[in-house]
Formats: sequence, C-alpha cells, structure tokens
Amino acid sequence: MSILIVYDSIFGNTAQVALAMAGAVPGSRAVPVRDAATIDLNGVTLLVIGSPTRGFRPTPAIQEFVDGLGDDMLAGRRASVFDTRLDLETVHPAPLRWVMEVGGYAANTLERLLAEKGCVMTGKPAGFLVSGSEGPLLAGELERARDWLRDLVAAANAD
Ligand SMILES: Cc1cc2nc3c(=O)[nH]c(=O)nc-3n(C[C@H](O)[C@H](O)[C@H](O)COP(=O)(O)O)c2cc1C
Repeated sequence: MSILIVYDSIFGNTAQVALAMAGAVPGSRAVPVRDAATIDLNGVTLLVIGSPTRGFRPTPAIQEFVDGLGDDMLAGRRASVFDTRLDLETVHPAPLRWVMEVGGYAANTLERLLAEKGCVMTGKPAGFLVSGSEGPLLAGELERARDWLRDLVAAANAD
C-alpha cells in the first residue's frame, strides 16, 4: 500500500504527528504542503491530509492544496484526514470552550471537501491535542497517531 501524508504545520506539532505516522507504517511518506503542489497521486492508495486547526478551519495552504486537486484525481480515491487542535481542558473561560466546539475543527472541513470531490473517506477524522497555541502535543498523542494510521491501513487491507 502506498500512503501519502500531506500536512501543514506552523509551530511543528502537526509535522511531528505526520512524521510519526509515516515512521510507523511501511509504504507511507509525509510531505509538507509547500512541496506537494506538483505531487503525482497516481499509485497513491491512501491520501492522508493533516492541518493545524486555525480559526476552526484548515490553514490556507492546505485549503489551496485541496482546492487545486482535480476531481478526476480524487474521484474514488481513498482518503483520511486529521488535525491538531487545542485540548479543551486547557481553554478558559468555559464559554470559549463552547465557541470552539461549535466552531468546529480542520479535519471536519477537510472531510467534507474531500468527500465532495468524490474521495472514499476512510476512518473518522482525527484530532490530536496540543496544550497551548504553540504546543506541545499532549503525552501519548504521537502513539495515538501511529495507531490511527495503522488501524486505517488494517481496515483498508481488510476490504
Ligand atoms: C491564530 C490561531 C488560531 C487557532 N484557532 C484554533 C481553533 O479554532 N481551534 C483549536 O482547537 N485550536 C486553534 N488554535 C491552536 C492550533 O490548533 C495549534 O496552534 C496547532 O494545533 C499547532 O499545530 P502546528 O504546531 O502544526 O502549527 C489556533 C492557533 C492559532 C495560532
């Protein structure tokens, strides 16, 4: 299986998640979105896209990358999405937590965009938690990320 993980990262946390995933699953590679514009998706069996959540959405670079992918490239292609996001336990006051939950997360936007372009979405969108705007990731999140991708691959292989 050939897995391409395209990610953006401002402070390095989403990059850590993407690289941990790529290191855990043979046949996968992680590419920063700035290097992904001309990437060839032919032969990619699972496209994974990851972004920090910023203002409830993916970064502009990830958004542009997805917008630039032709429907012909994506129709029927298996895809999965993840984001990094603030741990709500660290957000105060409580009404701000509510605003963030209602506002939503990058992975949910990505799931919708890719599904609209005809991707076969695999697994649920995942959110990996940081404890402040610049991180760090919570303990155990890299292991959870590795397990998330391993589970996706196992599910895809079982189909
Ligand atoms: C301008 C800005 C907006 C943000 N908006 C959100 C948000 O809407 N929801 C959230 O959970 N985290 C938000 N965050 C926290 C980011 O998710 C966090 O910076 C990101 O996960 C770190 O990933 P990176 O190190 O790969 O850039 C925001 C951070 C910044 C700096």
